[in-house]
Amino acid sequence: MRHAAYIFDAYGTLFDVHAAVRRHAGRIGADGPLLSEIWRAKQLEYSWVRTLMGSYVDFWQLTEQALDFALAKVPSADKSLRGDLLDAYWKLDCYPEVPAVLKALKADGARLAILSNGSPEMLESAVRSAALDQILDEVFSVDIVRRFKTDPSTYDLVTSGWKLYPDAVSFQSSNRWDIAGATKFGFRTVWINRTAQPDEYGDLNPSLILPSLEGLLTAE
Ligand code: LAC
Repeated sequence: MRHAAYIFDAYGTLFDVHAAVRRHAGRIGADGPLLSEIWRAKQLEYSWVRTLMGSYVDFWQLTEQALDFALAKVPSADKSLRGDLLDAYWKLDCYPEVPAVLKALKADGARLAILSNGSPEMLESAVRSAALDQILDEVFSVDIVRRFKTDPSTYDLVTSGWKLYPDAVSFQSSNRWDIAGATKFGFRTVWINRTAQPDEYGDLNPSLILPSLEGLLTAE
């Protein structure tokens, strides 16, 4: 085992945020991927803007507001899908390699947790439906500090909560902006670049870039 603690971002890293729209692909049609992209982009924009303004509302409300925007923006989208899409968000699929990688890290003696913008209720539901509740030691939600990532107080939830120095933590996220924030905070960072995105935030680089979580087991 190379790090005392492995901390994972939730949405996009463990759970597939586009699974909600995919589950209803037949009813959405060709604009499904566009709807999903706008939904996710707005959800994140709202998190940053509200943190900067000091006007927190929880991630579930942001998820609802972002979907309303996306449905309005994509004229072909059937508005009656709103309830089903939101329901799906509580039972997102996890990526296929997730259970085995987490179990192997745990068997090696590492402590495992999620650190996410998600509200405690959303996270509990997603973790349980993906059967990760028996593997994870803790789920840290930013809801306690009422700020979203990349505010340093969010990453501090882990180091304060588990009484660790930041460099004892390996932090995994598929969101490059989250990797920038966690690197600035002092975590060892691993960017899970699942969709071959171009690199950015060049002054705040991850220690490692992997296409999925699988490589974590053999990485330094
Ligand atoms: C999270 C979002 C940002 O889980 O992916 O924190």
